[in-house]
Amino acid sequence: MGHRVVQWTTGNVGRRSLRAIVANPDLELVGCYAHGPEKVGRDAGELAGIERVGIAATADIDALLALRPDCVSYNPVWPDVDHLCRILASGCNVVTTAAFITGHALGADARARIEAACRDGRSSIFGSGMNPGFANLLGLVSAGICDRIDRITVTESVDATGYASAETQQSVGFGHPITHPGLHAMVEKGTAVFGDGVSMMADALGLELDAVRCETKFAVATRDHDLGFMRIDEGCVAGVEASWHGLTNGRSRIELRVQWKMGQHMEPDWPLEHGYVVHVEGQPRVKTKLEIRPPKGFQGKSFVDFMQLGMIATAMPAINAIPHVCRAEPGIVGYGDLPLITGAGFCSEENPA
Ligand SMILES: NC(=O)c1ccc[n+]([C@@H]2O[C@H](COP(=O)([O-])OP(=O)(O)OC[C@H]3O[C@@H](n4cnc5c(N)ncnc54)[C@H](OP(=O)(O)O)[C@@H]3O)[C@@H](O)[C@H]2O)c1
Repeated sequence: MGHRVVQWTTGNVGRRSLRAIVANPDLELVGCYAHGPEKVGRDAGELAGIERVGIAATADIDALLALRPDCVSYNPVWPDVDHLCRILASGCNVVTTAAFITGHALGADARARIEAACRDGRSSIFGSGMNPGFANLLGLVSAGICDRIDRITVTESVDATGYASAETQQSVGFGHPITHPGLHAMVEKGTAVFGDGVSMMADALGLELDAVRCETKFAVATRDHDLGFMRIDEGCVAGVEASWHGLTNGRSRIELRVQWKMGQHMEPDWPLEHGYVVHVEGQPRVKTKLEIRPPKGFQGKSFVDFMQLGMIATAMPAINAIPHVCRAEPGIVGYGDLPLITGAGFCSEENPA
């Protein structure tokens, strides 16, 4: 039998996780958690936009844990430390995209509670996603051909207009007046998990950091934008740049930089890379670029359709890690603790697409 998995919420990322679990013969969907009362009782497959799977979404956590799942695929908009501790202490592992890489961004107390729950349940938790997550792994792998590493920069530079998660977007500054005095603090808090991405990379490289710091820049909307799921009015934030630096002796050695834009009209209108770019300063110097493109025959037309590809790329690093996380030593585990995580699910020759 495959690993028994509960899907936790069916938002942007959760829907793609659920589809991937159902499609993977090594995984078995045994339950689905719903946060929204309107989703409780509905078929999990329908919530994910696929055929019915015969599993009704529920908000009853005890009932889900009584199913004795091997792993929860945890994709709520915010992590709930009480929920995570209940899951982990029950002996169930967790893979998550919800603002979790090392757990430091949640605060020392919360992290200690999660570690204790892992010890009690002899379970593990692994956080990833596209970025933070896979993009950071790309930085580590890219530096693997250097005999000297001076500095690694990983940049995400994308149009986020189609990322229909108003709560997430507002938490990182979008839509607030550009004159808002708390913008920097808001973005520092909202992107704190990228600081954990810096720490994870430093740990994997054996680099002891003195400090991890955040710098921010903003672009202002020059027209009103109604994006359907949220508004960005003229004079409000339509572009966010957050750079998380890992420092030794005051020098930035690892930088995770995100550059996000929403809408068409903003000042300054930063040029985008439309992907993820790694620069390794060292010997040799290395540049790696990852672009996400639609597959052949892709029918999508809108920004939201295209963003589905980003949601797949966010869900899969966690889903593909499930077998390894179920076998890992108890505790908070990162890329440095797990074996090579590859993709899964090659199309068969009889069924090519
Ligand atoms: N690392 C990466 O590359 C990356 C990229 C994108 C997103 N993420 C993270 O992945 C997670 C999921 O993102 P998403 O875009 O899928 O989020 P989302 O669609 O906005 O929300 C996910 C689900 O959270 C539940 N929810 C809504 N409001 C809630 C609240 N106040 N408290 C608790 N749960 C609530 C809902 O569950 P129901 O559906 O059950 O009602 C919702 O569907 C987020 O933490 C996001 O930051 C990571």
